[in-house]
Amino acid sequence: MADLEGLLALERRCFAGNEGLFNRRQVRYLLTSPRAAWLVAGDFAGAACCLRAGNGRQRWGRLYSLAVDPACRKQGIARALLDASFSWFRAQDIGLVRAEVKADNTAARTLYAAMGFSEAGRIVDYYGAGETAVKLIRRL
Ligand SMILES: CC(C)(COP(=O)(O)OP(=O)(O)OC[C@H]1O[C@@H](n2cnc3c(N)ncnc32)[C@H](O)[C@@H]1OP(=O)(O)O)[C@@H](O)C(=O)NCCC(=O)NCCS
Repeated sequence: MADLEGLLALERRCFAGNEGLFNRRQVRYLLTSPRAAWLVAGDFAGAACCLRAGNGRQRWGRLYSLAVDPACRKQGIARALLDASFSWFRAQDIGLVRAEVKADNTAARTLYAAMGFSEAGRIVDYYGAGETAVKLIRRL
């Protein structure tokens, strides 16, 4: 919980309301859930949240809120956070990771493609009216 304010400040530096910005309640939930882990780079230069999900028959991982401070971009921090998330998921015995990205977020879509994610469909209005998400999957 000591990281709550740092994570919220990073969220606000990196996302707008129509880009899936998490509020205090959501970040607090993901900090306290036994199914979730936050990975933080440096002094909140970047962060990502990993969550174990499942439905009884199948287990998968969900990746939320991958963000790198605008002042620290293009230095490989997002790549490092994704690699670390893959290690965390593997340690949880999870072989499939899912994420969503805003369809017009070229930087993130290029990053996810470079890190081995496939685009697996679209969700209309996911981030609000007219804001489409692309569904991503990555096998580990
Ligand atoms: C997307 C984001 C996380 C990338 O973080 P980053 O630390 O700058 O990324 P990296 O330096 O690790 O880049 C890794 C690769 O991603 C791709 N990439 C990153 N930024 C890019 C950009 N602006 N345009 C195109 N491709 C980009 C490139 O393939 C890059 O590899 P390269 O440096 O060899 O060309 C960052 O821009 C960000 O926080 N954006 C706002 C929040 C967001 O959109 N998060 C994703 C939500 S799904």
